[in-house]
Formats: sequence, C-alpha cells, structure tokens
Amino acid sequence: MIELRNVSKIYLHGSSEVSALKDVSISIKKGEFLTIMGPSGSGKSTLLNLVGGLDQPSIGEIFIDDKPIHNISDDELTLIRRRSVGFIFQFFNLLPILTAVENVSLPLMLEGISFTKIKPKAKELLGKVGLEKRSEHRPEQLSGGEMQRVAIARALITNPAVLLADEPTGNLDSKTSEEILSLLKYLNGQGQTIVMVTHDLKASTYGTRIIKLKDGALSEDISIGGNGK
Ligand SMILES: Nc1ncnc2c1ncn2[C@@H]1O[C@H](COP(=O)(O)OP(=O)(O)OP(=O)(O)O)[C@@H](O)[C@H]1O
Ligand SMILES: [Mg+2]
Repeated sequence: MIELRNVSKIYLHGSSEVSALKDVSISIKKGEFLTIMGPSGSGKSTLLNLVGGLDQPSIGEIFIDDKPIHNISDDELTLIRRRSVGFIFQFFNLLPILTAVENVSLPLMLEGISFTKIKPKAKELLGKVGLEKRSEHRPEQLSGGEMQRVAIARALITNPAVLLADEPTGNLDSKTSEEILSLLKYLNGQGQTIVMVTHDLKASTYGTRIIKLKDGALSEDISIGGNGK
C-alpha cells in the first residue's frame, strides 16, 4: 500500500548539500506495523516525513494506495496529509486552549465539518484510547501518556490509511511508554497500518517488521511476524 522506489533526499544547506536519504526502496503492506531504527541523523524522520507528504523526495517515487505523492501540487499534497495519513509526535503537539475532544475533532473541523457533527466520533475514539472520562480536560490537565492518547485519537479521526509516529514514546517514562506501545499494537491488531520511528530496541519489538537506516541508506529489513499480511 506504501511504495518507495529509489528515493533520495538531498537538503541544501547554504552552499553545501546533505544527503539525508540515499536510494531507499521499500514497500509497506496494509496491516504492517513497521518500525524504523537507526542512529541520530540516519534519515529516520526524513523518511517518515516523505511518506506523510510533509516533504517531497529529491529523486524517486512514492505511492500511497497506488497514488503518487511525488511530483504533485502543494494543494494535492495538503489533501493527502489531511486525509490519508495521521501523525503523532514526541511532544504530542496538542493545542493548549482546546479540550481533549476539541483537539481530536480539529482535523475534521479544518475540513469544514461542524464540531457538533464530529463530537460523537471524537468521543468514541477517546473511549477507544481509554480516555472516556477526560474528554473535557485541556492538555495541561492531562499526564504525558494521556496527552499522547489524545494525539493518537486525533490522528485516527480521518480513518487514515497509515498512522505515522515519530518517537512517540521519546518523552514518556518506561511504564507509560509500554502503555502507549501496547495501544499502538492493539490498533495494529485491529488492522491499522503503522509506521513508527524509534531509538528504543524494546519499542521496536512491538511491531511486525523493523528496518534499519545507516547514513541514509537501508541497512537491514527484519520481519518479526505478527499482524502484517
Ligand atoms: N531541513 C533540513 N535541512 C538541512 N539538513 C537537514 C534538514 N532536515 C534534516 N537534515 C539533515 O538530514 C540528516 C537526516 O536527518 P533526520 O532528521 O532524518 O535524522 P533522524 O534519523 O531522524 O535523527 P534523530 O534520531 O536525531 O531524530 C541529518 O544529517 C540532518 O542534519
Ligand atoms: Mg528524527
């Protein structure tokens, strides 16, 4: 469902070039929980951002559900970002002035749908991530793990083809990290395709497949069974 063909990314930094990804080809199947590992600077976030349409490759092709997301207009890329992918981040990126249920509803409100219409689904998703009793809380009234659960519910509100996570447990203690990873594993068990960047070897074992990057190139690709088809 996600296909990268000979993808390279070169960043121009002043007059020098940084080769962040070098000729990476991967195909990610529906239902996989892929984790991306590798040292700092090896290109993990660059790869995730390309898959999520946050950035465009310098060379190569990327397809989501057979639709190209390279060489498309900014407007088309915005639609892919809003509808086909859901992002979660290390620092949650919730809006502090909104309640949990409003944060979860936001992606669809940006599409012009009214909060009243979205609210039941947003509440259902908050229930799914174990936060039914926190829907009227603002981020400052929630723990880190709870904030990440809100972010996961928000990422799921558009029924994205793939959930993309960049170090989702990087700012959580080990017990809370395990809870968030178990939640991701549960969602994957329900069929959600997930791509997660992590530094943590233990976190990577929650997935069904691990790829390793080294200096921007794919160095290992290990299948560990599970839900991937
Ligand atoms: N916008 C940018 N402009 C210039 N260089 C960049 C830019 N973004 C990333 N880079 C460079 O590309 C390389 C890969 O960066 P990337 O953020 O993908 O690494 P990473 O594997 O996610 O690292 P970390 O584990 O520290 O998050 C690094 O050398 C980085 O300095
Ligand atoms: Mg990174």
